[in-house]
Amino acid sequence: MRSVLILALIAQMSVASLLRAEESRGVNEQQMARVLRQAFPSAPPEWRSRLVPDATMATCVLWDNQPPKDVADAIKKREASRIRHPADGNFMGDWRRGEVLAQSGYGLRFTDNDIKRPNGGNCYACHELSPDEVSFGTLGVSLKGYGRTHKFDPQYARVVYEKIYNSQAVVTCSTMPRFGANGILSIDQIKDLVALLMDPDSPVNKSANAAPHGEAENKASPRGADAKKPDVGRRQP
Ligand code: HEC
Repeated sequence: MRSVLILALIAQMSVASLLRAEESRGVNEQQMARVLRQAFPSAPPEWRSRLVPDATMATCVLWDNQPPKDVADAIKKREASRIRHPADGNFMGDWRRGEVLAQSGYGLRFTDNDIKRPNGGNCYACHELSPDEVSFGTLGVSLKGYGRTHKFDPQYARVVYEKIYNSQAVVTCSTMPRFGANGILSIDQIKDLVALLMDPDSPVNKSANAAPHGEAENKASPRGADAKKPDVGRRQP
């Protein structure tokens, strides 16, 4: 019994030291690409291109998501040039449709074969929005009371539109999907999501218990979020 325990302990120790060695060596790009390829052995051929990072993703990986300012500025400029604005200059759609989109995680999965069914935004997977929805992820900041926090400023609707259209044009190496730029959501769908956040009648702003939770947190503008990133793990490529 005792020797089994000791053996187990040794095994555990060697795994730990191997892991530490791996950590200090770092993982190079070729290894990353190999792991990604192997992770989806049954992906249909037309999906393969989705496993190849575009220039922005590749640069973010290279800098551990914390590129120096000149590199970050170049990323933002490139991503901003991919934003298409609504032809009518109106950034707000219908918050009711926006709520349906925020709830829907449909699209881009192996099983999503109904091409007539529109993609969703899956916003609740990462954000709190309407206080009536109690199931939400916390990877992103709470967006409860978002329009109220931003004084329902019509100018700000454009900022929100651009953030949803292409998150990386606003926050370099953002982990939020680039919904418009990557063709996940249409211009009209993004307008509906802007309304969900900015319309005074939207449940995000209106529900009885929509008192902006974490005012300070919500006050952070998308343009200011870069500054909040912790300065850890920076590595020269
Ligand atoms: C995979 C997680 C993820 C998903 C899905 C996601 N977001 Fe985000 N979002 C984030 C993160 C993380 C941030 C904060 C860092 C940043 O700005 O990139 C953020 C920031 C934001 C901001 C800026 C908030 C501020 O500080 O003012 C808005 C607005 C926003 N998201 C809206 C949306 C909407 C609308 C959707 C659905 C279409 C959505 N997000 C889907 C992760 C996500």
